[in-house]
Amino acid sequence: MTRPKVFVTRVIRDAGLTLVREFCNADVWEGDLPPTHDVLLEKVRGMDGLLCLLTDRIDGELLDAAGSQLKVVSNHAVGFDNIVVPDATARGIPVGNTPGILTDATADLAFALLLAAARRITEAERYIHAGKWKTWHPSMLLGIDLAGKTLGLVGFGRIGRAMAKRAVGFDLRVIFYDPTAEPEFNAAPMSSLDALLRESDFVSIHTPLNQATRHIVNADFLSKMKRNAILINTSRGPVVDQDDLYQALKSNQIFAAALDVTDPEPLPLDSPLLTLENCVIVPHIGSASEKTRDDMARLAALNLIAGLKGERLPHCVNPEVYESGR
Ligand code: DGY
Repeated sequence: MTRPKVFVTRVIRDAGLTLVREFCNADVWEGDLPPTHDVLLEKVRGMDGLLCLLTDRIDGELLDAAGSQLKVVSNHAVGFDNIVVPDATARGIPVGNTPGILTDATADLAFALLLAAARRITEAERYIHAGKWKTWHPSMLLGIDLAGKTLGLVGFGRIGRAMAKRAVGFDLRVIFYDPTAEPEFNAAPMSSLDALLRESDFVSIHTPLNQATRHIVNADFLSKMKRNAILINTSRGPVVDQDDLYQALKSNQIFAAALDVTDPEPLPLDSPLLTLENCVIVPHIGSASEKTRDDMARLAALNLIAGLKGERLPHCVNPEVYESGR
């Protein structure tokens, strides 16, 4: 029996790559940087499956370049804004993602960012490296306490709920705004985003990126936050209008921001955000723990293999491809 041919757009962890190689003839892109779109167009030609990353844009042009034998696209991420899903659906191609397994790792990082911004940890470290630490001083690098404050979650899916759990140990009150979610744990629903912003000392974003959420954090949003509030974003960079965020941080309209994701990624070194002491930025490492990345690679491989076998993907973002009977 001929083995299916697949293109894997980066070296993923062995936990997944071994599975892919057992079942398929895999062409794996070995570069540290993603293949360019043109290279991708070449590489997918004639493939039965594609295992891609959030750095690869997958659209109708690319799916057509692959050819009508393409059976599955498996994204090595829970977010899938890099894929034009309707283009895949129109061609009857199931798209897989990796939900659930990166919930804890991402919530851990979001909480770490909250603490880093509140207690000015990255700024304090730079302070030492700059030779500014001369003595202990009662007013040196003062931050913000957590206990008794309010954490506002914009989006109350898996990661938002994991944040709510973590907040218990820090004596935070938790509120959320998400018209589609049921209240759970210690978290109280807010009837509007404005109400959430009015009450929150920490605002953490947990929405997917789509037309409705692009630049949801803009000048208007920031102007409704409390003066000493902190913004945390571990979702997708374009959810935040970075020019507006820069103005709000520069003028101390809010206390600080902490970002795991930026627009674009990587953030150019001349980004004004990098000049600010009150902006913590890390390079999209929400899911970057060994176990989580093993689990993501494994699930991405399982989605890919299921699609190649003509089986339902364990996690499919466009299940309507099965209903349409294509
Ligand atoms: C995802 O899976 O969408 C994350 O952003 C990767 O960490």
